[in-house]
Amino acid sequence: MNLRVFRSAEEAGHAAAKAVAAQLARKPSSVLGLPTGRTTLAVYEELVRLHDIGEADFSRAHTFNIDEFVGVSPGDKRSYCSFMQKHLFTRINLPAGHIHFLNGGVRHHEAECDRFERDIASLGGMDLLLLGIGGNAHIGFNEPARMLRARSHRVRLALETRRSNAALFGGRLDRVPREALTMGVGTMLEARAIVLIATGRSKSRAVASVFSGRLSTQQPASVLQLHPNVEVILDLAAAEKLPQSGFDAQP
Ligand code: GLP
Repeated sequence: MNLRVFRSAEEAGHAAAKAVAAQLARKPSSVLGLPTGRTTLAVYEELVRLHDIGEADFSRAHTFNIDEFVGVSPGDKRSYCSFMQKHLFTRINLPAGHIHFLNGGVRHHEAECDRFERDIASLGGMDLLLLGIGGNAHIGFNEPARMLRARSHRVRLALETRRSNAALFGGRLDRVPREALTMGVGTMLEARAIVLIATGRSKSRAVASVFSGRLSTQQPASVLQLHPNVEVILDLAAAEKLPQSGFDAQP
């Protein structure tokens, strides 16, 4: 596990964006796994800037977003799909046909999850998976549970997760869907490289689970310890429960 700690959330975001741009430079046809969330805003803003100055070319890349709300169609402005269009996809040269999502608006969720898995496999799997983390250590929408599922599936959302997503639904918790579709942890662990970004004190407990030396389905992000190529990018606040000190300066 490669850990990098930055002074600010913005610097951490820039470092994650650089990791994505470096992956695209190494392999222009990279298959990327992407998350949503407030943490990613600094990452996507920087990726757009890198794209604008010719340092991130998405023309041959494919993307797979890792989760979506059940009952929310891609065109719905509250969908994660719309979030991605607004903050990244409409601002870079990624061909529309290279954007892959779990469609939360379909009737048959199991078939949709199977299709998503097949599409990832047909492109040769993910080269780089960028992840955020929930305050309860969820990754994607894999919530703390008695069991974790390896493949993409429908999941019941934790109350804490629905609360932290309420802003997308006008601040109304009652309007946040109770279920979502998510990439499974087994599929995530098959990505050739994983970059996890977390910022802010509210993530520090969840981040500690990634370095605990213990695997627990109650802390889904702890499974990342099974992967041989994970880079964890933090700001100082998210790192405060880790037994290390010091930070990486932004070059
Ligand atoms: C959301 C998403 C995750 C994301 C996480 C962190 O609910 N399902 O994919 O990584 O929670 O979100 P934020 O960055 O807003 O804290």
